[in-house]
Amino acid sequence: MKKVLLSGIQPSGRPHIGNYFGMMKQLVDLESEYEVYALIVDYHAMKSVQNPKEMKENIMAVLLDFLAIGLDPKKAIIFKQSDIAEHTELAWIFETITTMPYLMRAHAFKDAEAKNKEIDVGTFNYPMLMAADILLYSPDIVPVGADQKQHLEIARDTAEKFNRIFGKTFKLPEAMIMKDVAVVPGTDGQKMSKSYNNTIPLFAEYDEIKKCVMSIVTDSSEGIPKNVYAIHNLLRPASELLPLYEEKTGKYKELKEMLIEDLEKFIAPMREKRKEWEKRLPEALKILKEGSEKAKKVASAKMAEIKEKIGVNINI
Ligand code: AMP
Ligand code: TRP
Repeated sequence: MKKVLLSGIQPSGRPHIGNYFGMMKQLVDLESEYEVYALIVDYHAMKSVQNPKEMKENIMAVLLDFLAIGLDPKKAIIFKQSDIAEHTELAWIFETITTMPYLMRAHAFKDAEAKNKEIDVGTFNYPMLMAADILLYSPDIVPVGADQKQHLEIARDTAEKFNRIFGKTFKLPEAMIMKDVAVVPGTDGQKMSKSYNNTIPLFAEYDEIKKCVMSIVTDSSEGIPKNVYAIHNLLRPASELLPLYEEKTGKYKELKEMLIEDLEKFIAPMREKRKEWEKRLPEALKILKEGSEKAKKVASAKMAEIKEKIGVNINI
């Protein structure tokens, strides 16, 4: 029996190279070794996408992204959350064993509160739905970027709590956070994020790559421009890069030009593959449908076990 790996991404906009190195790449690298579940969390994305046309386009886009990075649908199960009602069903069950003060310690909630935002219930309960996404499939590992560490801890705590109350039901998943890419920096040196306007989109065209790299913030006092180097280091090891950067000390423009070429070499094959998939939408949709069917079987078997444990099955 293969070990199980699961991770999810919200269909809430274009993916960037931070998503790729922090999470998506691990799915491809491990798809032969593990049973891989690649989940499109469309219900999670509803907190930011509330336009049906945009939602449809975004879901389709993540599907194409997964295929373009090289996930093999014969090996990986690519599926979407809204196809499997067990996710929201289990989230409810988890909500009944979780306290408000516990969820109020979540970073996402605290950040929203600090900004005096009016927080919707979905955002507050977000970690419960994520725990359900994970625990229905009994994964051994969940590759994510460092920003998801706390959500993984909440999923583990919730599994333990359920097991304590109702008897052993859930396996505790391990977060898999790759050390060197736990927080991929953006063009301004902060964490690369869809909401900071500092990304390098994963499928960017050459001109866009150029524009993004030229906008990387540098400080004239540094010999080695650290923000340029940090992104470059995703593509080439320090042993190769350091001599180059030392040779070109202070020559920011040349270093940026090198980075543009390296990014283009890395992105172009995936970009081309994505364009190929864009011409094969019906096939892509069939992959999603079949993935959801496979996942549904696993989720409904787990749900039957859960219902038995909590005592809502009253067959005699
Ligand atoms: P999101 O952009 O929130 O949909 O994130 C999708 C996945 O990418 C999650 O596993 C994140 O932890 C990961 N991720 C997002 N931004 C970064 C980043 N800058 N560095 C590393 N991983 C990231
Ligand atoms: N919260 C994750 C993010 O914003 C997305 C997510 C939802 C997820 N459910 C998941 C990630 C289950 C891993 C496993 O990036």
